[in-house]
Amino acid sequence: MLKDIKVAIAGTGFMGNSHTGALRRMEIPVVGIVGSRPEKAQEAAARLNIPKAYANYDELVADDEVDAVHITTPNDSHFEYAKKAMEAGKHVLCEKPIAMSVEESQILVDLAHKHKRVVTGVNYNVRFYPMCQEARARVQAGLVGDVFHISGTYLQDWLFHKTDYNWRVLSEKSGPLRVMSDIGTHWMDLVCHITGLKIVKVFADLKIVHEHRMRPKGEVETYSNMMLKPEDYYEIEVDTEDYGALLLHFDNGARGVMHASQVCGGKRNSSTFEIAGSKSTLTWDSHEPGYLNIGYRDKPNERMICDPALMLEGSRGMTYLPGGHAEGYPETFINVFRLFYERIDNEAFDLPPDIATFDEAHYELKLCDAIVESNREGRWVSLT
Ligand SMILES: NC(=O)c1ccc[n+]([C@@H]2O[C@H](COP(=O)([O-])OP(=O)(O)OC[C@H]3O[C@@H](n4cnc5c(N)ncnc54)[C@H](O)[C@@H]3O)[C@@H](O)[C@H]2O)c1
Repeated sequence: MLKDIKVAIAGTGFMGNSHTGALRRMEIPVVGIVGSRPEKAQEAAARLNIPKAYANYDELVADDEVDAVHITTPNDSHFEYAKKAMEAGKHVLCEKPIAMSVEESQILVDLAHKHKRVVTGVNYNVRFYPMCQEARARVQAGLVGDVFHISGTYLQDWLFHKTDYNWRVLSEKSGPLRVMSDIGTHWMDLVCHITGLKIVKVFADLKIVHEHRMRPKGEVETYSNMMLKPEDYYEIEVDTEDYGALLLHFDNGARGVMHASQVCGGKRNSSTFEIAGSKSTLTWDSHEPGYLNIGYRDKPNERMICDPALMLEGSRGMTYLPGGHAEGYPETFINVFRLFYERIDNEAFDLPPDIATFDEAHYELKLCDAIVESNREGRWVSLT
């Protein structure tokens, strides 16, 4: 049945490729793609063997063959693209963040509620690592107990050098925050999804490490600027943070602390959490995604390997290979897309979803606003 659904992709970069690859693995047809310019769409269509290259996004939205749109463009086009797709009756799977401001995301939330037969979802995919789903199943089964505190990190080094550049560096493209919005929201979404808790108060401290960066003269996609020479750049002022730290209060009274960075040498893409509860403590690192560590006060700790035979009922279906066969990042996309398309396939529009909703993505934008305010004013900010 999933093969009857036809998908178009907006965006031809890192995520455009990743979404297309995951859809192909699921045998869901990708019928068209649009890029920043018609030539980029044509290049991507030829490279990825996609039948149609649209000249612009309006052409994509007008294509009656398309049932669902995956939005994988830079952040500044998400609002317009998601709105147009929903208004055209197409299902929308949007990359995070869904918009550049809370005002915009509120409009998308209202539209998503209005168009009840349009399925919407947001690719907060980190929650769908198999062992993160196992952590969630353990919380739900009461194996962690009351959550006391949550700590963790999201650390990367791909913007370590002053010559490292991406559109995310510019607030007009990515929004007022970079690190906290780009990867910090993944972490906040992850720990809230696992524990079922909400963040109600934040205290933020942000830092721009490279106040100036060297911008390449041409367009560069994510992770693709490593081969440039000095004469290929010009200097720009940076207005988004390279590092940020948060103190958090959760709605059960639990406390939290996290920091995120894109200039932490040696950490390519490491998301970690430590969830300390009254019965056990769960720890995980995306650099070793196939392991969940379970700590105890009164007996030896456990290190659990990803193995469907050992996982709880709630997480077993999120892994595809027998134990010991490494799985990770690509499977997070498969899990998000599988739940999204099953919902469309079964016309199950009212089920409580496991994938992130527009409402949850709207909450992440509210958190970002609170982080900006807290950092600016040097005080705690509550979420209303
Ligand atoms: N969920 C995840 O794990 C994850 C990981 C990386 C990025 N992202 C999100 O995905 C989005 C894209 O990030 P990326 O790393 O793939 O960036 P990228 O720069 O690699 O790719 C973006 C692509 O969009 C194209 N583009 C730019 N403006 C466009 C427009 N108006 N219409 C159509 N195409 C346009 C660019 O030419 C480029 O090919 C961002 O919103 C980012 O936050 C999510």
